[in-house]
Parts: sequence; structure tokens; C-alpha cells
Amino acid sequence: MTGSLDALAGVGADPRRGGYSRHGFDRADLELREWFTEQATRRGLDVHTDRNGNLWAWWGAPGPDAVVTGSHLDSVPGGGAFDGPLGVVSALEAVDLMRANGFTPGRPFAVVVFAEEEGGRFGVPCLGSRLLAGTIDPDAARRLTDPDGVTLAEAVAAAGLDPARLGRDEQALGRLGRFVELHVEQGKGLVDLAAPVGVASSILAHGRWRFRFTGEGNHAGATPIGDRRDPMLPAAALVGAARRAARAVDGARATVGRLVPNPGGSNVIASTVDVWLDARAADTPRARAVVDEITALATTAAADEGCEVTVTEESYGDTVYFDPALRDRLAGALGGVPALPTGAGHDAGILAGAVPTAMLFVRNPTGVSHAPAEHAEPRDCAAGVTALATVLTDLTA
Ligand code: GLV
Ligand code: MN
Ligand code: MN
Ligand code: MN
Repeated sequence: MTGSLDALAGVGADPRRGGYSRHGFDRADLELREWFTEQATRRGLDVHTDRNGNLWAWWGAPGPDAVVTGSHLDSVPGGGAFDGPLGVVSALEAVDLMRANGFTPGRPFAVVVFAEEEGGRFGVPCLGSRLLAGTIDPDAARRLTDPDGVTLAEAVAAAGLDPARLGRDEQALGRLGRFVELHVEQGKGLVDLAAPVGVASSILAHGRWRFRFTGEGNHAGATPIGDRRDPMLPAAALVGAARRAARAVDGARATVGRLVPNPGGSNVIASTVDVWLDARAADTPRARAVVDEITALATTAAADEGCEVTVTEESYGDTVYFDPALRDRLAGALGGVPALPTGAGHDAGILAGAVPTAMLFVRNPTGVSHAPAEHAEPRDCAAGVTALATVLTDLTA
């Protein structure tokens, strides 16, 4: 198992940040997609790219009511080796194991790689699965822009896709019967349960918001304090407000992981500051309450400094409860593994709105994710492959 992940170790390694930076349709991502195509083809799977840039590898003929497994290959900036690739590599190894057991699926079966799951380049997470499911407006998606000013339309065109065809994919949706995603756990739930593998029960309601504070660019030395309209002041207030608002709501989380002052000179009062807020909670009323509280405080702080603020909701998804029957079927096939919730978003969470969907988690001894310390032991990865092969055999027999 780790053998296959090791094969990816050189792709998108980011010595400056540590870990990996692999973003939708960038050079590293294209290399990983080629690697997947080669690996799947070598296994006799038939690979094609859908209209939204997701890769499908069919074992046998494509058809309706298909059982599909897979994950993503892109990462957050400076991410770990397992978030995404573990699910893809495990899917390929599950195919090997099923074959070694003399098994051939009795119904359509595919391994999928979803595009730009993390939103590390264009800001919206689960972009490939959202486009496929039709939960994002394709015009808005085409206009999404990366930090270098490249639009999604331009990026997919450069990757050989037709940007005009982005959007809800009736053909792919029509074939999907059930979806199972294996993923490294992104907390310590399985460590605490002393279990190598578990099934997911739910995903927190979560979203991303971009606040733009606009003030007046000026000189750091020549501008008296009383004459300033410094957008960094409300931006800093937002960071503190996020922590306080999340703390006030049971189980809520609020994070500012990205803050970009423009122009970003150490002796320059910024003219604008963009602040990205990631907020999550058990349900939509709680998530909205956290974001509303933060927005109110940020708006007051902006007015106090003579600044303007605009807020853009970049993505939002309600709480996901995975299909209970499918979850129980997986847990049963695996001899009764534990079910646990997660605070992390997944393509499986998007697909759960369209078809019965389930997830398998593999124990992460560090409990750390979206950082280089993310880990899974080879023995647990092997247990994940065995579990996935067991479940897929059950579902496709
Ligand atoms: C993606 O992994 C997310 O939960 O942000
Ligand atoms: Mn992730
Ligand atoms: Mn992931
Ligand atoms: Mn994710």
C-alpha cells in the first residue's frame, strides 16, 4: 500500500511550505492524473475524463446503478500525503485484491478521481463533484479565479477540456448507483476507539466566506494614526471574533487560515485585506449563527476604522448524514466496525445528496490533517484496502 503512495512522493512536494501542494489542473495535479490513468489502464480499467474533469476508470462496461469508489488527488497548500490519495490508491489496490480473489463485479463498477476537492486553487471545495451534481452554477464556476488571475474556464481549457461543457452531468449521475469513499481520518476518533477502520456517520455543516475590507493605502511613517483607514484593523478584529463566536456555540469551529493584504508591503498601510473564514457547526442554524455573529462584529470594526466591507459566500453545505442502510451494510460486512462523525468535507458529502453514499475511515495516529504530520500506518492502510475490497465485493456481487 504505502508502495503506491511512495510512487507519488515526488509529485507536488513543496519544500517551502513542507508537505505537498497539488491544486486542480496545475502541473503536479496533471502529473498525478496521468499517473492514475496509467495505473488504471495497466489494470485493464477503461479510463475517461468527464465533462467536469473528473476521471473515471471502469472495470467492465460503464452502465446504470454502478458502484463507484474513489477520492481526490489534489491537496491543500502544504498538505499531507494521505488526504485524498489514500482513497485513490486504496481503490486501485482493492481492485487488485478482488481480482486476486478471483472476483469479477456482477454490476458496473468504477474508480473515480474528483477534480479540485480542496478548493486550494479556485477557492470552492469539491468543485468536480459539485459541478457533476449540479450544485454549483457553471457560469459562476467558470469565472472562479486562482491567485494568479487564471479562471477555471482557462485552466480546464489548458487541460484539454471544453469549459462550455462544465456543469451537471446527467450521464455520470444516471450511472451512479452507490458511492463509497475511503479516506484517512482527520482526527483521533479511531485512535480513541482502538480501531484501524471505521465508517462515517455525518459531516458538519460548513462553508467558506471571503471578507474584503477596503480602506486607504498610504505611508506607514508619514500617515498620522488619526488619519488612517487601515483595513488590517477590522481584519484582525475578525480573527478574534471568529474564535469567540465559535467558542460560544457547542461544537462549532471557525478558522481564518488565509489573509491577504494588498499590496502587502511592510511599510505600507494596505488598501485592501481579504480574509477567508471557514466556519462549521452541527447544523445550519448553528453555522449561520456563528457566521452572522462574526459578520456583525467585522462590520462594526470596519465602520470604526472608516473602512468598507463586502462578504462573499464562496461555498456552503448543510450537515450530511450518510445513508444509514449503506453505512450499516458496510459496518456489517466488516464485522461491526465503529461509526463516527467528521468535521471535514468530502466529495462523498456532495454525492450523498444524489445517491446512497458511505465512507470508510482509516486510523490516523497523529490525528493531524491538512498538514505534513498527517499519517496512517502501513498496517492500517492495508486494513483499509481489505475493508474496501470486502465492501465492494459485497456491493457489486
Ligand atoms: C476539506 O478537506 C475540508 O474539509 O476543508
Ligand atoms: Mn482535505
Ligand atoms: Mn480529502
Ligand atoms: Mn476535504
